[in-house]
Amino acid sequence: MDLYEYQARDLFEKYEVPVLAGIVADTPEEVKAAAEKIGGVVVVKAQVKTGGRGKAGGVKVAKTPDEAYEAAKAILGLDIKGHVVKRVMVAQGADIAREFYFSVLLDRANRSYLSLCSVEGGMEIEQLAVEKPEALARIEVNPLDGITKEKAVEIARAANFDEDLVEKVSDVFVKLYDVYKGEGATLVEVNPLILSGAGDIIALDGKITLDDNASEVRHPEHEELEDKDAADPLEAKAKANGLNYVKLDGQVGIIGNGAGLVMSTLDVVAYAGEKHGGVKPANFLDIGGGANAQVMANGLDVILGDEQVKSVFVNVFGGITSCVAVAEGIVKALEILGDAATKPLVVRLDGNQVEEGRAILAAANHPLVTLASGMDEGADKAAELANA
Ligand SMILES: Nc1ncnc2c1ncn2[C@@H]1O[C@H](COP(=O)(O)OP(=O)(O)OP(=O)(O)O)[C@@H](O)[C@H]1O
Ligand SMILES: [Mg+2]
Repeated sequence: MDLYEYQARDLFEKYEVPVLAGIVADTPEEVKAAAEKIGGVVVVKAQVKTGGRGKAGGVKVAKTPDEAYEAAKAILGLDIKGHVVKRVMVAQGADIAREFYFSVLLDRANRSYLSLCSVEGGMEIEQLAVEKPEALARIEVNPLDGITKEKAVEIARAANFDEDLVEKVSDVFVKLYDVYKGEGATLVEVNPLILSGAGDIIALDGKITLDDNASEVRHPEHEELEDKDAADPLEAKAKANGLNYVKLDGQVGIIGNGAGLVMSTLDVVAYAGEKHGGVKPANFLDIGGGANAQVMANGLDVILGDEQVKSVFVNVFGGITSCVAVAEGIVKALEILGDAATKPLVVRLDGNQVEEGRAILAAANHPLVTLASGMDEGADKAAELANA
């Protein structure tokens, strides 16, 4: 899960990373009140989960509360790369002497952590990496050791910090690593990390990506950070039902058991769709092993709630779950859903107790259900029905 800047700022504060005062606000009136509370120059900043806010007009300096009010009027409702601004952060204005860049992230390719650091912060790091790669230090961080003070000094020196700043910035790097480790993040990025006129190092903008797998087990409190309004409503519903569902952009709803089978089902359906008007899979949904009727009903309910879906392909390979349970699940699910079930279902069953499972579906003889004997045949039928 990606966090908003204000959430990153709050986590920084918890780990004693130096930050400035920041108050979130949803209306120009609230922004004005926040600016009065903070006092002096403030910066009104769009809270959206995308980069380049400044360039898009989403970051504005305001010298008075009235100017902050006007800035908020301009920023709230602004569309930044498809993200509409609903909330801003009013941040205390900083006196910036220099802007730096620092990040630590999970480096999957190398099965390690990586720290990126530069004394040329402020600009987009992707651009810096292309235009001035020599100005961007890349230092591997061993996950077993983390960023110790020693490592932090190594990073600061590699990034060419002036020797009199190395001590100060390296202290901040250690604290930023504490955030990364302590919160179970896969990215902590500060751009810009600044040197103020008074000589302080301050994190002026933060991006944090939390590892959802870590959050689930170690940080139940992270649930509060989730922006439920912004989530896709179908994905939110699936999540509430404990389903592994990802909304895609096609017309054939997919239900399968096991992530690998569902992934290959998506491929097979996309391939079959080429012959049927270019229809594509509408989602990923893995109902897992041991799926009962209720799980099947919940899954079907989510998929049928997707207006784009024209047909559904249920592709189950019975292993621990027997095909009997799956077939009974489908029949019961159709009963539970009643009139809500309106789209044709192609069902392919195989594996454990396949004959008995197929017999149950054949006996039920539901008008929406078509049985397929193989995966390719089922995908083809489902794509054809979606294109009808
Ligand atoms: N509190 C502040 N006081 C003074 N100047 C600020 C403050 N916050 C940001 N700025 C200035 O605005 C610039 C852009 O701000 P920021 O980094 O927060 O947004 P951005 O980089 O445009 O957005 P993103 O990081 O999402 O790409 C900073 O580099 C800094 O010069
Ligand atoms: Mg930034």
